[in-house]
Amino acid sequence: MIIASNFKTNHTRSSTHEYMQKLDTFVRESGSAQRVMVFPPATALDRFDTAEQITTGVQNAYPVEKGSFTGEIGLEQIDEFGLKTILIGHSERRHIFGETQALCAKKYAFFQEQGFEIVYCIGEPREVREQGIEAVVDYNFAQLEGIDLSYEKLIVAYEPVWAIGTGLSASVEQIDETMTHLRKKIKAPLLYGGSVKPANTEEILKIADCDGVLVGTASWDVEAFCEMIAIADKLG
Ligand code: PGA
Repeated sequence: MIIASNFKTNHTRSSTHEYMQKLDTFVRESGSAQRVMVFPPATALDRFDTAEQITTGVQNAYPVEKGSFTGEIGLEQIDEFGLKTILIGHSERRHIFGETQALCAKKYAFFQEQGFEIVYCIGEPREVREQGIEAVVDYNFAQLEGIDLSYEKLIVAYEPVWAIGTGLSASVEQIDETMTHLRKKIKAPLLYGGSVKPANTEEILKIADCDGVLVGTASWDVEAFCEMIAIADKLG
């Protein structure tokens, strides 16, 4: 399983170091078999001396090596820390910062070319969910436009926008049904994201096509994140 934490705009450089240390200790001491990913904010990026199964990634970057793109980071800034994993297409990037599908696809192509592992996020807003499963599937498939699904370092995160940060996860039935449809096109590992927490981790990880979770809010507390990793381990 893949258990991933997206810090978003949370944690400082110093609290991230503390977090990574605790996480590393937990993973080593528990002998966890999970793949663990952490996406700290850009100011907290570093070369963390963690167990091999823990990967640090970047939440966002502009598809350039370097240049004049105020407020953005590019390949040169990521390379400094030897990082090779990136989140692309997160709903907050799409909906708050207006990233178009064309820009997501451009970022994808650039970082694919650079050999990055890409966690590519898709997910429908509430009004689409209310129109039923067909509309949901069409919307999610449209977010795959221009994305090379055969890329071997791709992981897809299905994160319904209405479930992100709301405390209200999609139901197991909704996730299961949606993932079954997504699976027809996506052979890459499929994660679910949207109000995942220790209390619902087990039922979500048991969903047939679900290969892991991408967690925001609940994962900012390292103990809760470790608890979710332990739940995955218990499931075997
Ligand atoms: P959440 O965020 O766990 O706070 O809902 C998930 C995400 O945006 O990846």
